[in-house]
Amino acid sequence: MNIAVFVSGRGSNLKAILTSEELKQLVEVKAVISDKISCPAFQIAENFSIPTYSIGDKAGRINYEELIPLLLDLKIDLIVLAGFLKLIPHELIDLFRNRIINIHPALLPSFGGKGLYGSNVHKAVFESSAKVSGATVHFVDYTYDTGNIIAQKCVDISDVNSSEEIVERVIKIEHELLPYVLKKFALGKVNIVDKRVVVH
Ligand code: GRF
Repeated sequence: MNIAVFVSGRGSNLKAILTSEELKQLVEVKAVISDKISCPAFQIAENFSIPTYSIGDKAGRINYEELIPLLLDLKIDLIVLAGFLKLIPHELIDLFRNRIINIHPALLPSFGGKGLYGSNVHKAVFESSAKVSGATVHFVDYTYDTGNIIAQKCVDISDVNSSEEIVERVIKIEHELLPYVLKKFALGKVNIVDKRVVVH
C-alpha cells in the first residue's frame, strides 16, 4: 500500500510508521508533505530517504494545485495526516473519499474541532477532570475531527497532575495505534458496513 504522510511539525508518528517492523512489507511511504517550508518531520523523512514536498509559502498560504497530480502520479492509496494542521480542501477529500485518515490525541467525538490541536487538546482534557484519554484515528471529512472513527485506544489518566503527563501517556498510545490501523488498511481489513467503520 502506497501512502503519503502529511505533517506540520515534529513527526514522531511519521517515525513510528517508518520504524514499524510489521509495516515494512505492507506499507511504502512514497512522500512526506507539509504546509511548512521545513519542519523536523522533513528531517526524519530525509533520514529514511523519503521524498519531501512543501506545499506552503512563507506567508502561510498553501498551494494545493500541484498536490493532486503528485498524489495521482505516486499512485497513493491512502493519505495519512499525522500532525497536519491545515484543513484539507473539498476537492481532495472527494477524490480520496474514505482514503484520508487523521490521528487525533484524544477520544473523539470529545475534545476535537477547530483550535483543539496539540497541547490545547491535553489542557482541555486536564481541565475537564476526565479520567481517561487516548488517541483516535478517523476518516477525514469536510470539517475538523468529525469523520467516522476507525480505531481508538484509551489510557488511564486518573492520577495525573498536569496536562504534560497526559501528553506523554497519549503519544505512546498514538505510536501504537497508527501503525496498527495502517496494517489493517494494508490487509484490507477496514471496511464500511451500513455506514459503520468495521475493523476486523
Ligand atoms: C499528534 O499528537 C497527533 O495526534 C496530532 O498532532 C500530533 C503530531 O505529533 N494530530 P507528531 O508530529 O507526529 O510528533
